[in-house]
Amino acid sequence: MPRLIRAALERAQVEDAGRVSSGVDIVGDIAIVRLGDFSMAERKRVAGALLEELSNVRVVLEQEGGIEGEYRLRSLRHLGGEKRTVTVHRENGCAFRVDVAKCYFSPRLSTERLRIAEAVKPSERVLNMFAGVGPFSIPIAKLKGAKVLSCELNGHAAKYHLENDRLNRVERLVEVLNADAADLPKITKRKFDRVLMPLPSEADRYPHTALAMARKGGIVHYYRHVLGEDEREAAVALREELSALVPKRAKFTARRVREVGPRWVEMAAEIRVPD
Ligand SMILES: C[S@@+](CC[C@H](N)C(=O)[O-])C[C@H]1O[C@@H](n2cnc3c(N)ncnc32)[C@H](O)[C@@H]1O
Repeated sequence: MPRLIRAALERAQVEDAGRVSSGVDIVGDIAIVRLGDFSMAERKRVAGALLEELSNVRVVLEQEGGIEGEYRLRSLRHLGGEKRTVTVHRENGCAFRVDVAKCYFSPRLSTERLRIAEAVKPSERVLNMFAGVGPFSIPIAKLKGAKVLSCELNGHAAKYHLENDRLNRVERLVEVLNADAADLPKITKRKFDRVLMPLPSEADRYPHTALAMARKGGIVHYYRHVLGEDEREAAVALREELSALVPKRAKFTARRVREVGPRWVEMAAEIRVPD
């Protein structure tokens, strides 16, 4: 059991006794917990303990179930502290205003986002097909001065992305389209040096779109949740999937991003678009 939730259960004098609680996500000043089979009184005590333990947290929300639907949203209920779902999260030298009930946001991807920003050259044109509130796109513009086109289907997330562009002073470098990424080839004839596909639950529906939007010799970053006991098994599964989806001449590498559940791994592939 993760350290933070163990400490909160101890402080609240609530015994876990196999009722299985998983981690705490801290987004800005909001703590999002996943608790096992506890009574409401016990849940509230755990929330109170978290508020005491974490001086920068003002709100505790409970996530029921997984991250669901086209917009990848959490189902949340209030457990303690102030009653709100909007906060400002800081990572990689940027600030992101987000409504965690209406937009996808995970603090667990900050290292991956920085890794991508560091790989981008200032002269590159980048397309982010599934941009959320901007945590991949904005650091690329802010840290590298590169131009980014962000596409996002969820109108709430697109609105926060625009607000975050202004908050981080990158509105001249980042363009946000509130659109379905599948329509991108109809919307613009531009070609991109680098295309990001941070939609691991459904990326397999879009490789042809990503390849169509990338220039010859460009790079597509494909993220995917795959089953595997370890990184080697997950890499084999990812390679099998991609071999059936991209042209034979497209070379790609695979690496592990993080664990996302028992036997589930988030993997990243870098696909080099053939000349
Ligand atoms: C897993 S989230 C990642 C968001 C962001 N890149 C991040 O790291 O926070 C995927 C995002 O893609 C959006 N999305 C889902 N289907 C889409 C589509 N067909 N076109 C554009 N955006 C889509 C969702 O609303 C969600 O915000």
